[in-house]
Amino acid sequence: MKILAIETSCDETAVAVLEATPETLRPLANIISSQVALHAPYGGVVPALASREHVNNLGHVYATALRTANISDAPRDISCIAVTRGPGLGPALITGITFAKALAAHYALPLVGVNHMDGHIHSNWLETDLLDKDVFPALNLLVSGGHTELVLMRDHGEYEIIGETVDDAVGEAFDKVARLLGLGYPGGPAISAVARTGDPHAYELPLPMAHSGDFNFSYAGLKTAVRYLIRDLGDDLSGQQKANVAASFQHAAVDILVEKTAAAAKMHGVRTVLLAGGVSANALLRERLGDRVRELGIEYVQPVMRYTTDNAAMIAAAAYFIYARGDHDTHDWKSLNMDANLRL
Ligand code: KG4
Ligand code: ZN
Repeated sequence: MKILAIETSCDETAVAVLEATPETLRPLANIISSQVALHAPYGGVVPALASREHVNNLGHVYATALRTANISDAPRDISCIAVTRGPGLGPALITGITFAKALAAHYALPLVGVNHMDGHIHSNWLETDLLDKDVFPALNLLVSGGHTELVLMRDHGEYEIIGETVDDAVGEAFDKVARLLGLGYPGGPAISAVARTGDPHAYELPLPMAHSGDFNFSYAGLKTAVRYLIRDLGDDLSGQQKANVAASFQHAAVDILVEKTAAAAKMHGVRTVLLAGGVSANALLRERLGDRVRELGIEYVQPVMRYTTDNAAMIAAAAYFIYARGDHDTHDWKSLNMDANLRL
């Protein structure tokens, strides 16, 4: 079966066509129009600008996706349309949902509303052999610009949040530290690039909540510690000093994620640990978490690089399981609701 998916929760206008076979979930098209350059001067995403761009771009991105997937005519051999209904920026979500409702109504196709974080989780099923594997119970480390969560997954759609950030998300901390260092937006890729030539032990930074005894996270204190460190180093940091600050911050941020995830995986006796969300693109996190989880004798899975940051293929992957089980989340075009604050 084929699923057409639309994702507009933040600053990427994305449309994908997914082909599901018994072996794997394979995108036939995964088109992303990024607005990074538009928002960069503001140091973050401006919701009103994002929604305007989505409206302007959706038609082209949709047409390109159909062409790439070799669907020349109406999406006749599509089984359902999937769309992100939250969490995300309200004005941005509205554009994709409205577009998806119009398509579903016009072609009389079922419409499946998908939780954006459920999408990130299912990025792990794209082009991998997970469909064939017994993965549950699984522990998800969800790390993005808006989320830092440990989610216990007993099956597709059966989630329990066992830990989360009490303040900033880890991706947000990367973005804010990058801004403090004058590295631009988005901060994650910029920090990890600069950190490559830095010493991760140059400065000792706090590991907030490391010993809190639960699985919650906090990144506001770490960000503040970096702000004071930069102030104490003086206004004009050398390239090497910037690299050292970036590497020390990245080391601390990743350390907390790895240790808490390992502790939670042990305590809950999971079979698999899955990494997902935009920060799952981080090379140090991928390597350190993989090593630590395998040391415990637990299977470790991470998404293929191109599916780590926001895309519509992951929304189609989540929709595949929702559609297959005929879940309550499956809507027709009249009844799908947006929920910008949706939880898993
Ligand atoms: O999932 P995503 O694309 O959008 C949200 O749903 O938030 O995640 C974006 C976040 C941003 O904060 C960005 O800085 C971070 O993911 N990110 C990274 C890397 N690539 C993207 N953080 C650390 N290292 C990276 N390589
Ligand atoms: Zn995301």
